[in-house]
Formats: sequence, C-alpha cells, structure tokens
Amino acid sequence: MSAAAPRRIGRAPAIRALLLQFLAFPLMLATVWLLVRAGMPPSLLGVTLIQGTWAALLSWRAGLASWWRAIQFLFPPALLLARQGADALALPPAAFLAVFLFLLLLYWSTFRTQVPYYPSGRRVWDAVAAQLPAGRPLRIVDIGSGLGGLVLDLARRRPDCEVGGIELAPLPWLASSLRARLAGSRARFLRGDYENLNFGNFDVVFAYLSPAAMDALWRKAAAEMRPGSVLISYEFTIAGREPEQRLVTGDSRKILYIWHF
Ligand SMILES: C[S@@+](CC[C@H](N)C(=O)[O-])C[C@H]1O[C@@H](n2cnc3c(N)ncnc32)[C@H](O)[C@@H]1O
Repeated sequence: MSAAAPRRIGRAPAIRALLLQFLAFPLMLATVWLLVRAGMPPSLLGVTLIQGTWAALLSWRAGLASWWRAIQFLFPPALLLARQGADALALPPAAFLAVFLFLLLLYWSTFRTQVPYYPSGRRVWDAVAAQLPAGRPLRIVDIGSGLGGLVLDLARRRPDCEVGGIELAPLPWLASSLRARLAGSRARFLRGDYENLNFGNFDVVFAYLSPAAMDALWRKAAAEMRPGSVLISYEFTIAGREPEQRLVTGDSRKILYIWHF
C-alpha cells in the first residue's frame, strides 16, 4: 500500500459518513437528555431518528454529496428495524455475519473507489465487438471486469485477440475465473487494481466504472496509452474530453464513448 493510500481511504465519502455518525452521537445524547428533562422522552425509533437528523445535518455541513444526507438520516432507523426484524424472525446473529461477508467480498473497495459492481449486458458487448478492428490481433482489457461477461464474450468472438480482465473485488474475480475455466476460455482474469496496470500494453481498454473514477482514468490513459490504441467507456464520459465517437447501445439509450489515441 502506498503512503497516499491511508489518506485516500480517509477521504472516501463512506468513511467520512461513518465518522459523522460518531460525531452525531453526543449531539443525539444531548437532544434526548433535553427531551427527557422537558418530560417528552422519545421512543427508541425516535432516538434513531434524532441520531439520523444530526448525522444528515453534519453531512450537509461537511459538504458530502446530497444523497448522503438521505443515507445518513435513514441509516440509524434502518439498523433498528433490521434488528427488530431479525428478532421477530429469530434469525441467528451468524446470518448478519454471512450477509456482511458476502457483501464485503462482492463490493470490497467500493467505499474507496466509488465504483460498485453492476454488469453491462449483451447489447453493450455487441457494440464493443463491432468497434474492434478486424483482421489484426489485439490486446484487449476490461478494467473492472466484474463477473467477466464482456471478456468471455469477446474472447469467444475474437479467437485472434488476447482478451483479459482485471477486477479488485474477490468474489466477482473468483466467479469470472471459474467461468473461464469451466467454459475452456482463453480469457484471463487478474485480481488487482487497474491503477497498477500499464495501459500501454493494450490496444483496447474498456471501462464501465462510475463518474467518480473518470478524471483519474483519463489522466492514466493520457499518460500511458499508445498511439493507435482506443479507450472505450460505457455510460460515463470524461468532463472536458470530447470523445471521437458516441454510440447508442440500444440498452436504455446508454452511450458508449470512444477516444482514439
Ligand atoms: C460497473 S462494474 C462493471 C463490470 C463489467 N466490466 C461489465 O461490464 O459487466 C465495475 C467493476 O469494477 C470493479 N472495480 C472498481 N474499481 C476498480 C479498480 N480500481 N481496479 C479493478 N477493478 C475495479 C468493481 O469491483 C466492479 O466489479
């Protein structure tokens, strides 16, 4: 881990949101104390709503994106309701641990990268395949390859090309590797951070990330990609960098953005 990594993690909105919940706790206690003294003791649900209100206010003051206010407000009552629901259904505590571990392995560093798992679909794969120049072998990588659908599809269509994916989250990476093995595919899946990959080794870099990742992606692509190579981004463009091509994929009018280097 680089020296900048802890700072980057500390700046992640999810970590800041958690710290603000802690900061809201004494404010919630003081509010409850005042209400008790005034002869209006709140219910347990009321206490969680007070906690959520303080956390939402602090998030607004701290300049977190607007949707965090809703998340911060709803988080404490949601915890209480989940707890009460589990009691009513007599769920064992291990059920919570199992769900937590599953989500952890699926989403992994999403709190830092702000790029959750969400698959593209066949129409996108068709559109990407149609963009690949025919008649010459290419090195193609899907950065953040998820369950590997696009990579496996391209490897099937273009046996002349080297197709691979890199994925940070353990569960999607494991699933994609197993799928490749079971299908006897030549596609290769690497577990890791695409920030450590040299884009200069590829003719085509495909990305389906999130708006939060696009500026840094452009800086990396501009520094590393070779003349003649292509960056393709599904759904998310890069502010101030007009793509040479925009293609409507037919998939709910979402667009494939293409930059030629
Ligand atoms: C929106 S999904 C796209 C999945 C796949 N490319 C597809 O088209 O179906 C984005 C994926 O990128 C992964 N990811 C996010 N940041 C990453 C990083 N820095 N390095 C590698 N993978 C990353 C996430 O774990 C997630 O699985």
